[in-house]
Amino acid sequence: MHTLYRAARVFADEGFGGLIRRAVRRPFRRKRADPGAFAREAIETQVAAARIEYQRQTDAFDARCRELGLTGLDDHYWYHSVDLGDGLITPGDYDYRAQVHSFGFPADLGGKRVLDVGSATGFFAFEFERRGAEVVSVELPSLDRWDMLAAEREDIVREIAAAHNAPSPVAGYDRHLDGPFLFCHARLRSKVKRCYSSVYDLTLAKLGGEKFDLVYAGDLLMHLFSPLKALDVLSGLCRGALMTTIELPFSGGPTDQPLMSFRGLLNGTEGRTWWMLNRASVEHLLRRMGFTTVGVAGRYSGIVRQAWVPYWREVIRGTP
Ligand SMILES: C[S@@+](CC[C@H](N)C(=O)[O-])C[C@H]1O[C@@H](n2cnc3c(N)ncnc32)[C@H](O)[C@@H]1O
Repeated sequence: MHTLYRAARVFADEGFGGLIRRAVRRPFRRKRADPGAFAREAIETQVAAARIEYQRQTDAFDARCRELGLTGLDDHYWYHSVDLGDGLITPGDYDYRAQVHSFGFPADLGGKRVLDVGSATGFFAFEFERRGAEVVSVELPSLDRWDMLAAEREDIVREIAAAHNAPSPVAGYDRHLDGPFLFCHARLRSKVKRCYSSVYDLTLAKLGGEKFDLVYAGDLLMHLFSPLKALDVLSGLCRGALMTTIELPFSGGPTDQPLMSFRGLLNGTEGRTWWMLNRASVEHLLRRMGFTTVGVAGRYSGIVRQAWVPYWREVIRGTP
């Protein structure tokens, strides 16, 4: 845990570059051990801790559901860990609860309108509401609306439905996306409004007619055929900050130039990730959309549960 804590602190304070610098420096202190050993050791420790914590969360969730008489949730997919109160926490593939302070969101969102786009189980929408905002959560109306190649669409939707033992694409959508959100929404007695739409089709009329003080599109751009089109739509809905995320480290070339690297070579259900954008590209896109102050608002990292791979992200913010 000590190694994990140290690595997390280095990442929070100095970013991914800091982690790499330590990884390179450390071997000399360790009698020329394998270069990169520190980073690998930190990740292995983190994965081991994440496995234990995920199992604990899953067992605790199942037990609490039994105690509360909650049924019909076995095939639900929990993208996020959401604390629903009453000892009930969904066992998500992403548990951002301990890290949400690192994203750069305002602590007080009282009186603000916030749009959470590509909301999944809704962790961020509920968090914004907890901070006082009036929130609209946007999610697709069906699984076949993801940006997928036409030739692969049917197979991917069938695979996702099968993964949740769902007899149809509609039931698959309910278990993978909408049911988990609605369950959390009901348990939290949330007033978050849900808008079923692709980001490309959002309009002010669909969203209550008033612009948003904060628009958040977390881990969305990489899954879209057209990140530029999406940012164009979102900037038109925004009167304050637009925040989005990028993956680190950027593997597609020099990081001081605005680059998007094609990542769509994977297939199967993984074949829904299209781009890796670097920081400069998102900053340039936001400037082009009219945001005058752009930069890194936060950083976070962790392990994707069930896939058991690490992730590193930066949150990029544009303000007028
Ligand atoms: C990788 S998840 C990110 C979830 C959440 N925003 C977060 O940061 O943890 C991407 C989400 O965006 C949704 N999504 C994908 N394409 C979309 C689109 N065209 N319009 C709106 N949402 C979309 C997916 O269904 C999924 O829930």
